Amino acid sequence: MITKEIQIAAYLFASILFIMSLSGLSSQESAKKGVIYGIVGMIVALISTLLSLNIQDGYIYILVAVVIASAIGIIVARKVEMTAMPELIALLHSFVGLATVLVGFSSYIDPATYYINKDLYEFIIVLVGFSSYIDPATLLLDGAELSIHMVEIYIGIFIGAVTFSGSIIAWGKLTEKISSKPFVFKGKDALNVVLLLATIILCVLFMRETGTDGMIYLVIMTAIACFFGMMMVMAIGGADMPVVISMLNSLSGWTASASGFMLGNDLLIVTGALVGSSGAILSIIMCKAMNRSFFSVISGGFGQEIKTGKKMEGTVKSITHEEAAEILNDAQSVIIVPGYGMAVAKAQYPVHDLVEKLRNQGKSVKFGIHPVAGRLPGHMNVLLAEANVPYDIVLEMDEVNPDMPETDVAMIIGANDTVNPGAQEDPSSPIYGMPVVEVWKAKRVIVIKRSMAVGYAGVENPLFYKENTDMLYGDAKSSVEKINASLK
Ligand code: TAP
Repeated sequence: MITKEIQIAAYLFASILFIMSLSGLSSQESAKKGVIYGIVGMIVALISTLLSLNIQDGYIYILVAVVIASAIGIIVARKVEMTAMPELIALLHSFVGLATVLVGFSSYIDPATYYINKDLYEFIIVLVGFSSYIDPATLLLDGAELSIHMVEIYIGIFIGAVTFSGSIIAWGKLTEKISSKPFVFKGKDALNVVLLLATIILCVLFMRETGTDGMIYLVIMTAIACFFGMMMVMAIGGADMPVVISMLNSLSGWTASASGFMLGNDLLIVTGALVGSSGAILSIIMCKAMNRSFFSVISGGFGQEIKTGKKMEGTVKSITHEEAAEILNDAQSVIIVPGYGMAVAKAQYPVHDLVEKLRNQGKSVKFGIHPVAGRLPGHMNVLLAEANVPYDIVLEMDEVNPDMPETDVAMIIGANDTVNPGAQEDPSSPIYGMPVVEVWKAKRVIVIKRSMAVGYAGVENPLFYKENTDMLYGDAKSSVEKINASLK
């Protein structure tokens, strides 16, 4: 057992490590260090929490939960493909939401006065994690303290339930078990406002009850919050999903913070606030990068009209690998724009060889990376770093766009939405206003993909019909390998 003072010092140390972890993760060179700080911080946090609790025979439940959860975590993390990472993250966010809902309910059910079966109570506590192992004696609050605690429970459960159901839907959309098209119906916004008002009224009724008599209001509010979270993410179209993932990440931080308030755990409050605020900042940056209104995205497309985009007209030209190699042989400057298809095909290694060959011929080669290319922030940068592509030629969208008109060849490898000119030219396009890599401004454009299929946002791409565009159909990896074989 450790004293309260040692526990506070350990929590402070863990919080500092978490801050250092976040700052380490902000650049590729220091990311590994950042992860290590995070791991050490988490170990310090867990051990000091465990040693500070008067758990007695409860340790066995915790150990069993830790062993089972760790085994599942290791298996899942080893198996998951890089492209499936956002799905896993969405699922993990849903667990944070669910844990907060359970913490809220178990915090409300004071076992000292409530008739609930003690074993069941212990089971709930084990489920939500060791930090929630509450000593029933500490729950004997009254007056203002009790009211504050009730509000904490109410808000905590609300945010937790929204995060839980929203994350499940996000997981469904990312795994394509649910259509990525926005699901909206007439009166959705009005219904949201009514539900929000109902939640406030239920809160007032809940606060007026004593003991656990307010349980019914809590249960109804939880159902409303789950519905609210579901509708919020269902209404969001594919193109806005990155913002939603980052927003759910932020929400999961606030839910952890809410759990911290309910349990009187300072470390949970601080850690949750760190995740919550960094996630919120990332969401706002992403919204700016995609020219979306943050309010509109977080309110589930509040007040947004549905757009479908223009019908495509014109002809599409296709070329062979030899012809593509010939075009590259003749070029002096090349900008490569990778996307999700490069990740799926694991084409980064032949792409590295292609770059080496072209650079050895004295050509200027750069990469143009869109902030939401692929399926997670920094997806392309991680893959290119994995294949040892030099960092200094991997540039951001804003850095390559001004050079596009002077570029001989823009080569698109498995990207689609992020190079869609409709985002600038077609006000009826669902992605109108989203900044894109302006590849069509280059002298020639080669697009490598398997077919004319749409990308994640489900939007047709007028780029394929442009006069200076040639399509090279096929899997990204084998196509680049064949080009490499035909290059001088
Ligand atoms: P997408 O628009 O999703 O297009 C990828 C293209 O790759 C598809 O059109 C597909 O066409 C092609 N492809 C798939 N497998 C391939 C293979 N084996 N070989 C060659 N091509 C292949 O990709 P993007 O331009 O990277 O845009 C990302 C999209 O994902 C955006 O809409 C973004 O909002 C969304 N999103 C991003 C994130 C983050 S944070 N980055 C998270 C969630 C969603 P074919 O089927 O014809 O080959």
